[in-house]
Amino acid sequence: MKNSIAVLTGAGVSAESGLGTYRDNGGLWDNYDPMEVASIEGWMRNPELVLNFYNMQRSKLKDVKPNAAHRAIASLQDKYDVSVITQNVDNLHERAGSSKVIHLHGEVTKVRPEHGRYDRDYSESEVFDIGYDQVCLGDKAPNGSQLRPHIVFFGEAVPKIERAIEIVSKADMVLIVGTSLQVYPAASLYRYAGNDTPIFIIDPAELKLSDRRIVHIRENATSGMQKIVEMLEKEENFTTFAPAK
Ligand code: APR
Repeated sequence: MKNSIAVLTGAGVSAESGLGTYRDNGGLWDNYDPMEVASIEGWMRNPELVLNFYNMQRSKLKDVKPNAAHRAIASLQDKYDVSVITQNVDNLHERAGSSKVIHLHGEVTKVRPEHGRYDRDYSESEVFDIGYDQVCLGDKAPNGSQLRPHIVFFGEAVPKIERAIEIVSKADMVLIVGTSLQVYPAASLYRYAGNDTPIFIIDPAELKLSDRRIVHIRENATSGMQKIVEMLEKEENFTTFAPAK
């Protein structure tokens, strides 16, 4: 039975691909008000502004590639049962070769009807992959309603959080890469890891976390993930990484 690794990622894992983060200096939320372009109220108030914001994100994604951190995460699949649980709406984990990816906050390459069905068993009926195309006001779904980004807006539920909690609670190791851990419920996911489950956080910023299970690798995603790969090549027995009692 392969050891399982849950990899929780945020915008920082895609930073070295050239995609901006949200809350760093010059980040997306320095230039846009998330309540205008990424909330359900913003959508109701001005859907065209929201469509244009995600059209821009989508066309940016066309021109960037996965970086060495995405590839290192995918390479762990050779020896471990790896589940990527990302807050990112980009497709860089998949393009790097990760096969089990849960997008907690949706996917920018997909759209769905504004008024449609959403099966509680996490299958996504009526979701359409439009790649890097644009979607405009007046573009309708087969059911006649306006097409909207398949994104979890601020103010909306996070349908995949229970599945994510289940995966983290059973993981033999948790890696957290490039997230400021400020948006819930994603930010609390690591807390569901077992008492003796090693947790590594890769982030160049100072983090104020006092969980005895956490080891902070204060580096960028690419160099930090290289360290994790080398560490696992040297020592496959995860109990050696267990936190001190
Ligand atoms: N490598 C690793 N981490 C990095 C790098 C890098 N090269 N550059 C920046 N970071 C770190 C930052 O220090 C920060 O901790 O990535 C984190 C980015 O934090 P945010 O910009 O807040 O992004 P994220 O945590 O993913 O935001 C969560 O907020 O607005 C919502 O839905 C949006 O999914 C997003 C959620």
